[in-house]
Amino acid sequence: METVDWSSLSFSYLPTDYNVRCYWRNGQWGELEVSSSEYIPMHMAATCLHYGQEAFEGLKAFKGKDGKIRIFRLDENARRMQSSAAAILMQAPTEQLFKEAVLKAVKLNERFVPPYESGAALYIRPLLVGTQARVGVNPSEEYLFLVFVTPVGPYFKAGFKPTNVVILRQFDRAAPQGTGNVKVGGNYAASLRAGAIAHDGGYSAVLYLDPKEKKYLDECGPANFFMVRGNEYVTPASNSILPSITNKSLMQLAEDMGMQVVRRRVLVEELADFEEAGECGTAAVISPVGRIDDADTGKSYVFSKNGEPGPVCEKLYHTLRGIQYGDLPDKYGWVTVLE
Ligand code: PLP
Ligand code: COI
Repeated sequence: METVDWSSLSFSYLPTDYNVRCYWRNGQWGELEVSSSEYIPMHMAATCLHYGQEAFEGLKAFKGKDGKIRIFRLDENARRMQSSAAAILMQAPTEQLFKEAVLKAVKLNERFVPPYESGAALYIRPLLVGTQARVGVNPSEEYLFLVFVTPVGPYFKAGFKPTNVVILRQFDRAAPQGTGNVKVGGNYAASLRAGAIAHDGGYSAVLYLDPKEKKYLDECGPANFFMVRGNEYVTPASNSILPSITNKSLMQLAEDMGMQVVRRRVLVEELADFEEAGECGTAAVISPVGRIDDADTGKSYVFSKNGEPGPVCEKLYHTLRGIQYGDLPDKYGWVTVLE
């Protein structure tokens, strides 16, 4: 613990002291339990293991210059876990239980919240899994809701520097009417092969197209995608992308910066009309996109020629981070300050 180099953290797992657990059994949630084990005793026929009955969330806690710990958009993450659970017939934790568990997990691991100067954060991972033994494809009647935390640095090694992404039409991360719009484990399993091909080619992520017509932009690996042209912030509308809480926040910030914010279907070819592009998400924050290569057509779309982020990405990034770390006022009520 004493040897953690906070400024050099990457986005990976480091053990912390405690996690928080709650079980749904006999039609009700039990008491919140605190555990110091990193393992879960699990029946080998549990529905999460065989049939992917699993949903998760991702949010962050930040330590400010004032020493206070701020959790970003706790309510939104609580609500999204409810829609994810409903999509695959799981018992969702109530909003209150979700918040209580997150606050408790952060509080118990306060010493792992990276210091302000490091630019790192405490990543919070709520997890919901079906635990009942089943061999038929049916939903479990028992669930474990668990929250663990781990200190993290930037998701992409480059940090706030442009990275390149690739379009690979032979892969989809989600089906047109499937589970792309909720945060369930199966979507991520489905993205592993394409992600590995992209990484082997030196790209940070795959820019997925809509799985139905392969004409429109969807999202970018484990992040949403946005573009900027003049005074316009454009982000794809689609049934198969996850509604990113970071993107929602950036849309609000862009609007308040006087930009016109548009969520609409975006044709791949329109990439040529934009000046800046970025990936956004809890883990990715804003990760500016330098170039997009369309592996099937051979076309490239360049957004950064000098290896630096564009001015709008830069401004949005600093405003978002300013609110998260408490350097800017929380005028939207996005932040929960830990008591
Ligand atoms: N899209 C996918 C597939 C993700 O996994 C994430 C990460 O949570 C996002 C988008 C960004 O969402 P958020 O900003 O809520 O973290
Ligand atoms: C997040 O941004 O919170 C994510 O969940 C992305 C990824 C690590 C799965």
